[in-house]
Amino acid sequence: MTHSLENIIKNLDKDINSLSVSELRKKYLSKNGILPSLFTDIKNIPSSERKEYGQEVNSIKQRVENALSNNTQRDTDTSVVEKIDPTAPFDLNTSQQKKPRILDMKGSSHVLMQEIGSILEIFQKMGFDILESRQIDDDFHMFESLNFPKGHPARDMYDTFWTDDGLVLPAHTSTMQNRALRKFGPPPIRVVLPGRCFRHEATDASHEHTFYQIEGIYVDRDISVANMLATIKEYLQEYLGKELDIKMQPAFFPFTEPDIEFIISCPFCDKKGCSTCGYIGWIELMGCGMIHPNVLTSGGIDPKKYTGFAWGVGIDRLTAIRRGIGDIRKLREGDIKFLNQF
Ligand code: DAH
Repeated sequence: MTHSLENIIKNLDKDINSLSVSELRKKYLSKNGILPSLFTDIKNIPSSERKEYGQEVNSIKQRVENALSNNTQRDTDTSVVEKIDPTAPFDLNTSQQKKPRILDMKGSSHVLMQEIGSILEIFQKMGFDILESRQIDDDFHMFESLNFPKGHPARDMYDTFWTDDGLVLPAHTSTMQNRALRKFGPPPIRVVLPGRCFRHEATDASHEHTFYQIEGIYVDRDISVANMLATIKEYLQEYLGKELDIKMQPAFFPFTEPDIEFIISCPFCDKKGCSTCGYIGWIELMGCGMIHPNVLTSGGIDPKKYTGFAWGVGIDRLTAIRRGIGDIRKLREGDIKFLNQF
């Protein structure tokens, strides 16, 4: 082994560990680099040592090439431009070491679908039917059948999207009340109506233009506010896995009388105040009330014989509370890292 070869081998480890990709490539592989000159020297090596020399040089070359392809050097050199694939899923280009996650990802249901599934399961156990709401509807189901006459100012509370031919993207699942009363009547009627809703409004951490709700209807003889409070409380305790205190607050909906805002004690801080409840200890969760006689009549139910209650709750809101999500817009961003948590 020649003296310089010995030195080169001695320094090789240090170089591999300390030089950047391009420095290493330049020092060993470039035209004036170490390896080409070692190869040129072969002809000057006595023939008895040539074989051993050749093996040593080849092994140096191999180690340099391995180091370059494994990319094990600290790459501090900005002149090295790594190829990126602009069509790849968003995080594939961030590190060469990372396995393409899309390939080993199994399909899974979206967290909102998981939540809807567990809520429906609770209501099924409580004896409720299920009917999905529509994603496009008409003025009669969105307003008229719910006791919003044409020109009623309360229509403004439900600003949504309309098609040119007068169809509407429903702003709430209450659009299904009339259909449910007709389909499941005569009473007893117990039905939950999950579905996608839309509102024409600016988004923020707790508002979206697209979201899910679950509507519930219960109609029978002698049904009162007490039945409503017990049913909703039971369902929420089962869903949130916690004993809850409840409060009622007046609200306004044309389709109920009385109209109630259903409030629960914060399941996370037991009314002490935390970030989930905005440090007030209580959460205004949903609208509910006794179904207005006009709504019952329009659904073919005689309000003198039967009474009932209804409620509508936002699933995105419930999901955010139960799963500790600070911003409901995350639910629709399609960020795989976020979604894989669930
Ligand atoms: N549809 C109402 C909304 O989205 C919520 C609601 C309130 C539904 C009272 C009901 C109800 O069924 O009785 O704002």
